Amino acid sequence: MNKEAANSPGEFFNEDCIEGSRRHLPDNSVDLIITDPPYGIQGDTLHKHYNRKEEFVLDGYVEVPAAQYAEFSAKWIEQAERVLRPGGSIYIVSGYTNLIHILEGLRATRLEEVNHIIWKYNFGVYTSRKYISSHYHILYYVKPGGRSTFNTHCRYGASEKTEGNGSLNYQDREDVWVINREYKPGRTKNKNELPLELLIKILQYSSNPGDLVCDFFLGSFSTAKAAIGLGRRATGFEISPTAFNYQIQQVAKVIPGSLLESLRKPLGSPPKNQGKPWSAEEKEQMWQRYLLLFGKYRSKKKALAEISDEIGRGRWSVEKVLVEMRDRRKCSSSVGQDMFSENGQ
Ligand SMILES: C[S@@+](CC[C@H](N)C(=O)[O-])C[C@H]1O[C@@H](n2cnc3c(N)ncnc32)[C@H](O)[C@@H]1O
Repeated sequence: MNKEAANSPGEFFNEDCIEGSRRHLPDNSVDLIITDPPYGIQGDTLHKHYNRKEEFVLDGYVEVPAAQYAEFSAKWIEQAERVLRPGGSIYIVSGYTNLIHILEGLRATRLEEVNHIIWKYNFGVYTSRKYISSHYHILYYVKPGGRSTFNTHCRYGASEKTEGNGSLNYQDREDVWVINREYKPGRTKNKNELPLELLIKILQYSSNPGDLVCDFFLGSFSTAKAAIGLGRRATGFEISPTAFNYQIQQVAKVIPGSLLESLRKPLGSPPKNQGKPWSAEEKEQMWQRYLLLFGKYRSKKKALAEISDEIGRGRWSVEKVLVEMRDRRKCSSSVGQDMFSENGQ
């Protein structure tokens, strides 16, 4: 075992992630996992090192043989579930070839699917007789039993608009992400290094400063570097001594919180009670208020906007509770249907 923590706000282990996580990470201890497992495409002997010709690609990428990929995936995903806190999130980046094994690994756990994100990148490998593959899958799951972190307005305020008058917040939260891979001429890198932009996006939405972020397959430590740069704590595993010994020096140079200044500041403050649980009494009051305001305006949109301002909650949250109250009362008169129609003016 080669544990390295010197000069770093993280704890990193030059070990197999399955054994290493058993040894070093207690149950329910991690807030967020972002990880990019080996792809299992070309390797046919475990721990085979790639000898790529590219001058700056770091030798020391350990592949998993295709025949062992299913079992390997099930084992590390089982550990990932164990170490996540209830409500903790996991994002797994996967190509198409072994996606099925990752999905089956996830289905064997209690982790719940939140989104299946498509990451579209540039530099897909050129092909002439078929379409060019230029996307990865990012599987976003949450461990049940606790409140998950999703910072809805961390990057764009609710009322910020695109040039075409669309919502920037909506656009940023669509599940197809177009993010280019980074071109780093003359710099040593790991094969398949994840772009900083992609990591920052996940870290902003699904973690808070001080949270513990884990990467089971550190590679170039890109997740750890971004996490520390954003004032989170980091941990993780890399089996290759070559990659580990080089990158442990690099991660130690990252100044905690140094990326925070560069983040875009969302405009407009989120509603003051956003995210707070609703009490039964509040729900009932909102329902009564809605009946009154709908009677006044005959417009669902106006009534919802006014209530949303009054109680300091987002419009969608108010509408969700409204539907719940309607269903509870089994409101079926034609007046009731008008009041709740989707295109209610
Ligand atoms: C796809 S790369 C990760 C790339 C990383 N996300 C980055 O941005 O650089 C997968 C990494 O997992 C490492 N690896 C392979 N098997 C492992 C294992 N059992 N435990 C820990 N790391 C492993 C490989 O050596 C490789 O560096």
